[in-house]
Formats: sequence, C-alpha cells, structure tokens
Amino acid sequence: MAWIAACLLALTVAILASYMQGASAGAIEDFEDATSSPCEEINLITCFLPFVAFAVSDEAKDYTPARAKGVITQPQLTRLCDLGNDTAICFRDYTKRCIGSEHPEVHLTAQGTIDFLQFCTKPDAHSKVQKLFSCAQTMEAIHNRCAKSSSSMLPTDVDPSSPTAMVKRPNALRDLCCHVKKYEGCYLPEVQTHCGAEGVTANQDFLQRIYTSYQCSKHFPNCPA
Ligand SMILES: *[C@@H]1O[C@H](CO)[C@@H](O)[C@H](O)[C@H]1NC(C)=O
Repeated sequence: MAWIAACLLALTVAILASYMQGASAGAIEDFEDATSSPCEEINLITCFLPFVAFAVSDEAKDYTPARAKGVITQPQLTRLCDLGNDTAICFRDYTKRCIGSEHPEVHLTAQGTIDFLQFCTKPDAHSKVQKLFSCAQTMEAIHNRCAKSSSSMLPTDVDPSSPTAMVKRPNALRDLCCHVKKYEGCYLPEVQTHCGAEGVTANQDFLQRIYTSYQCSKHFPNCPA
C-alpha cells in the first residue's frame, strides 16, 4: 500500500504539475466552460485535484516513512481509501461519459481501480495493510532500489499536456501490469528474510489483488523484455 500509494501520488502530482505549467492560462477559461461541456479535459483533471491537494498537504507528511515509522492508523487508511474511491469514481464516470468503447482499456483501468479499492471495505483491511506497511518500512531501502530498477517499464512517451491522450494511450494497462510484475520480481524474494512468512503472504495477496482487478494475466505474455 505504502509504495503503490506513493507511486500513484508521485505520478499524479507530476502529471498535474506539468499540466498546470503548460496550461495554467487556458485552464481558467476551461474551468468556466466546464459546466457547458462535461467532456472538457478540465473535468478529468478536476477528478484528481482532491488527491493532489492531499499530496501537498501537511497531513500527507504523516504517511511518509520518516513520520509514520511503519504505522498506519485505521482513520488514516479510511482517509486514503475514501480519497482513492472518490477519485476513481469521478474518473470512471468521466470515461463512461466521454471516452468511447473503442478504448476498452481506459474503461478497464477505471473500473479496475474501483474494484481494487473494494478491499478497503473488508473487516481485516486495516490489519492487512498494517502488515504491508510495517514490512515496507523494514525494507525501505530495497523498495527504493526496486522502484528505480523497475521504472524502465514505465512509458517515456507520455504527453502530460494532454491527460485525455494519456489515458487513451495504447498499452497503458499493459505497462502498469508489467511495471508491478517487474517490481514484484525485484522485492518479493527479499520479503521472507525481512518480514517472515506472514509478510510474504500479505504481499502476495496484495499483488494478486492488483493483478485480478486490472486483468493483468492477459498482459503478462506481452511485457517488454
Ligand atoms: C466507493 O463509493 C461507492 C459509492 O459511494 C461505495 O458503494 C463503495 O463501497 C465505496 N468503496 C470503498 C472502497 O469505499
């Protein structure tokens, strides 16, 4: 959870930051048009704004390894789940409204994120995430190394000035799946040593949930070398 949330946050902030730089003047006009044209890109961006506001807030600092020290409280988890769910639903509604069925992967990604977050509603969600969180803290240096080495799977040809083009990008879902798979190959073999058998199970369950939510198994054969 810790690393995936950190990845998502970093990605969202990077996208938004470059978009804001490139289009801050236009954005205000777009905003005024938003109600009349619900498929304006600004409406897509608006879905992510609460997330970005959170990411740059003081509150978010409580989730960083330095402050959290491997502990995530139940209210903190609920906060992340709600924020993620609101964003995912907003994104799903935008894609349903504005992106055609000729882009099936966009719809799969949107629905997949909502499905993924359903784990939040399980009674043992907090104890499981706490296990992941403390294990990730113990392995922080390894996670940092693996994040670097698996980033080669992330696309380099994205154009942050056009969020809609980004979400319609071919192979976006394949790249996400392959990125996580490569990350798994890097860190999972180290989990037994640092977090024991329980840690291995918790991490495997978490990864499996990602793979199932995004139907990754059909993409794995096509991962770039
Ligand atoms: C997300 O919100 C929807 C609608 O409010 C709700 O039905 C669903 O259970 C929520 N999911 C999570 C993970 O909170």
